[in-house]
Amino acid sequence: MLLSTLRVFLAGSLAAFAAGQDNLGLSGGYTNLQSTDFKGTIVKSSGTLASLNSSRTGFNFLPTDLISQLAQNGAHHLGDVTFRYRTSSSASWTSVDTASSRKAVTQLTSLGAGVIAGADLAPTLGTARPFKVTREWLTSGSGLALRFNFTNTGTTSIELGSLGLPVAINNIFTNRLATDTQAKCSFADPYIGLDAGFIRVTPLSGTGNALVLAPLGSSNFEAWRFLSESSGAFGYQGQTYEGNYEWQVHSLAYAQNEWKSTTPWNSATSKTLAAGEVYSVGVKFVLADSIQTIEDAVVKSGTPLAVGLPGYVVPADLTARLYLNYSSAVKSIDAADFTITGPLNTSAGAQYSLTPKSSAWGRSRVTVTYADEKKQTVHYHITKTAASTLADMGNFFTTKAYFNKTDPFNRAPSIMTYDHEVGAIVEQDSRVWIAGISDEGGTGAYVATAMKEFIQPNAKEVSLFDDFIQDTVVGTLQQNASLGVVASAFYYQPGAVSYTYDSALDWTTWTSWDKTRAYTTRRAYNYVHPVAAYWSMYRVARNYPEQKLRQDWSWYLNRAYNTTQYCLSNQSANCDYGLVGLMGEWVLGELLEDLKREGLTTQVTALETTMRYRANLWETEAVPFGSEMAWDSTGQEGVYYWTNYFKLATTPTKAINSIFGYMPTVAHWGWNGNARRYWDFNYAAKIAQTERQLHHYGSGLNSLPVLNYYEQHPADLYALRVGFGGNMAPLTNIHQDGFASAAFHSFPELLKWDPYSGDYGPGFLGLSLGQCVYVLTGTKYGDVAFGGNLLSTSGASTISVAPRDAVKRRVFVADLGLKAEISAGIISKVDFDKTGSTVTLTLASAAQTADLQAKAAIVWLKKPASSTVGYKVDGASTARGGWSVDLSSGKATVKIVKV
Ligand SMILES: *[C@@H]1O[C@H](CO)[C@@H](O)[C@H](O)[C@H]1NC(C)=O
Ligand SMILES: *[C@@H]1O[C@H](CO)[C@@H](O)[C@H](O)[C@H]1NC(C)=O
Ligand SMILES: *[C@@H]1O[C@H](CO)[C@@H](O)[C@H](O)[C@H]1NC(C)=O
Ligand SMILES: *[C@@H]1O[C@H](CO)[C@@H](O)[C@H](O)[C@H]1NC(C)=O
Ligand SMILES: *[C@@H]1O[C@H](CO)[C@@H](O)[C@H](O)[C@H]1NC(C)=O
Ligand SMILES: *[C@@H]1O[C@H](CO)[C@@H](O)[C@H](O)[C@H]1NC(C)=O
Ligand SMILES: *[C@@H]1O[C@H](CO)[C@@H](O)[C@H](O)[C@H]1NC(C)=O
Ligand SMILES: *[C@@H]1O[C@H](CO)[C@@H](O)[C@H](O)[C@H]1NC(C)=O
Repeated sequence: MLLSTLRVFLAGSLAAFAAGQDNLGLSGGYTNLQSTDFKGTIVKSSGTLASLNSSRTGFNFLPTDLISQLAQNGAHHLGDVTFRYRTSSSASWTSVDTASSRKAVTQLTSLGAGVIAGADLAPTLGTARPFKVTREWLTSGSGLALRFNFTNTGTTSIELGSLGLPVAINNIFTNRLATDTQAKCSFADPYIGLDAGFIRVTPLSGTGNALVLAPLGSSNFEAWRFLSESSGAFGYQGQTYEGNYEWQVHSLAYAQNEWKSTTPWNSATSKTLAAGEVYSVGVKFVLADSIQTIEDAVVKSGTPLAVGLPGYVVPADLTARLYLNYSSAVKSIDAADFTITGPLNTSAGAQYSLTPKSSAWGRSRVTVTYADEKKQTVHYHITKTAASTLADMGNFFTTKAYFNKTDPFNRAPSIMTYDHEVGAIVEQDSRVWIAGISDEGGTGAYVATAMKEFIQPNAKEVSLFDDFIQDTVVGTLQQNASLGVVASAFYYQPGAVSYTYDSALDWTTWTSWDKTRAYTTRRAYNYVHPVAAYWSMYRVARNYPEQKLRQDWSWYLNRAYNTTQYCLSNQSANCDYGLVGLMGEWVLGELLEDLKREGLTTQVTALETTMRYRANLWETEAVPFGSEMAWDSTGQEGVYYWTNYFKLATTPTKAINSIFGYMPTVAHWGWNGNARRYWDFNYAAKIAQTERQLHHYGSGLNSLPVLNYYEQHPADLYALRVGFGGNMAPLTNIHQDGFASAAFHSFPELLKWDPYSGDYGPGFLGLSLGQCVYVLTGTKYGDVAFGGNLLSTSGASTISVAPRDAVKRRVFVADLGLKAEISAGIISKVDFDKTGSTVTLTLASAAQTADLQAKAAIVWLKKPASSTVGYKVDGASTARGGWSVDLSSGKATVKIVKV
């Protein structure tokens, strides 16, 4: 969502800040830090890291160029440490932070083996403490390490209730050009996995070396805490500077206080130091050749590695696999919610299978203990079966969120934003679009419902949704027979409407648009939502003709086409932002394919002309991922789609690399495949703040290009793991009662789903267009299936898979580079005969008896452009660009063979 005031705000704060104080002691010079893989510098006075370059490429992971404006007290740097301690269990905690009031630290004169620099931190600990804290920078293999020793110098024990290592990298985009941001900046993503925890630092370009921070000794990664800092010179905790976090080795003092209303990722611990005891903690800095080889760097650092296939979101009827790669044997696995068998194979790490227990649902932790006593947690999210999850959601949004009352804003009937905490529709919000069924923030519930009906249509829901289209999308969102889509159907203008505005809300902000502003139709992003709704109803009308809708299928298809063209054709003259990638515009690609299949050649040509203009423009741009925001992770989806569609030379790869820069894979459901988003809670959620979002719509949307890229590079398992992780993510937002939340709050004091459905929609759209069963043979993990249960044994000549994904209409066979998709019904089984290169699909009319039952389906086949081998459906007649299959008996078998 738009924040047009952003640049103004930053410029204002910058002027007020100027050159800043040098509490860090930059004037005292630097000390060099060097190892085989790194060249760095530390600030002599503070002893904190000033630069950290790869010695192979020279790339610097830190904001060294801005350091003079990060030298004031309170600004954290790598090498800082924060802690809370108490000297008796009844005392309250004392908090210390080496950044809060800096004093030059005391250099250690005698250094141990491998130690490059060391200091006693006493001067900067604020006041005399009952212990000594030293910091050492040392070499560690070909990398570097940072070590803190806490020595209890008193005569009684001391409890450390928190111990945090701040991680400040170059994630500052403020005042940088897009090209500089892309070339210089990095993101940090945590894997909060105890002794196996690590942090990935990945360049925004997505290319070149990456950095891993791994535990030194037993430095438990227990929690990931956001560090409060003042706004400073760069707008800390803003859209262009997300801010810094710390790796918490212990977190009990927070869990007992600030975080007591939630459940932390890991059990919170403290450390008691007996008189005279020395406690060492720290991190290793390990260089990875590339983002794709981060896991090799983790293994190289001596840290246990967990790899879950297909990931860490597990529907109730799926058996997942977990591979544990570590030099010490697995001693035990503690998992309350899974039945675990294994190790089944040890060739790529010890392989276990995990099947959810029948009662299990939601966040679920698996704890592995190794023979050397290291502990690792793997964080799963168990859902109901995908079909029940979708049924719950469809039912929830078409009942609880169905708005059907007399309304001066003409919003009825519609599917509106819902507040799960209050248990009611959000009829008003001073960010008007949230109650105005437009923008991403007000369309989440209806877009998700639209796409649910495409996947798993239900007669009653389809009919209610059709009423919404005929009576509200037409007439309220698109008014006066125009195709222009309003920015909000709801507005704040007491004189213009007979309506009681809630006086408890603040109607004085820039978000409380009046009628004129609300009725503007220039925001291109707003068009994708109604187009998705029309397109979905076209698919229902076309594929389930027994279900009578209020218009013929061609009306929905043409309306989708006309709405798209109104905004984007003619160089987007009717819209703003039409020349950047739009959230969810993958559906425009689906629309184009359907226009082709229906033989609407005039429309095909016109839509291609529209899109070619955009794609050609992006191909000329150095960083073609613009949006309403200064930096964003939304444009890549559309930019990839069309530049790939028109086979342009450089942009598709650039887009994929860009996504790899912000979309990690780690053994945690919340970060795995989570495309970075951290400001949209402000525009589309109930708890409005700048905060890293877990599985906001970026996950589902960015997964689409990554999966498409994978399908063109079937050996790239890393791409599949990232893409599949993101594509499954939108299932986690759906609660047991069917409500779906905008995103999960990752700050440790919250760790909960936002109560608003908000902007959930595009994420679910991503899931609906991306879900696919991927069948791979002979990988380093053996034969594997993503999105289904492998029924055959590894190495068998026929690979059989039972789909467990949320769509059950798509299959990709990696060995053949072949993708099959059906238009209606579901695929209940896949058999890939390796020897004969045939794929047999068993089809059924629906996932559930309550759903519309398909009487026929079309099978579409897609093979890589590079392949000369063609495929067909054996014995079937062609129709709508594919082959038609009779499903009137409720099932069918389809054999795909080489032409
Ligand atoms: C580290 O990278 C910075 C660019 O951020 C460069 O100015 C500096 O010279 C590099 N230092 C070394 C030692 O390579
Ligand atoms: C810190 O503790 C480690 C043992 O964990 C020891 O090797 C090192 O010498 C200590 N450093 C200092 C400065 O005391
Ligand atoms: C896991 O372990 C095996 C055997 O040590 C090794 O060959 C493999 O490359 C490891 N790493 C990863 C990332 O799987
Ligand atoms: C909507 O309201 C109308 C008129 O009160 C009523 O006939 C209809 O059943 C309602 N529909 C739903 C889905 O509540
Ligand atoms: C539609 O027409 C009415 C009546 O002229 C006007 O008040 C309203 O602003 C128009 N809507 C839009 C989106 O232009
Ligand atoms: C779409 O636009 C065309 C041409 O402008 C028009 O003939 C047609 O009726 C429109 N269709 C719909 C469904 O709006
Ligand atoms: C295209 O947009 C321009 C304004 O940029 C406008 O003058 C022209 O009439 C538009 N053409 C069509 C065919 O809509
Ligand atoms: C173990 O997995 C490897 C591939 O990672 C496969 O080649 C081998 O056949 C498997 N062994 C068994 C017993 O399944």
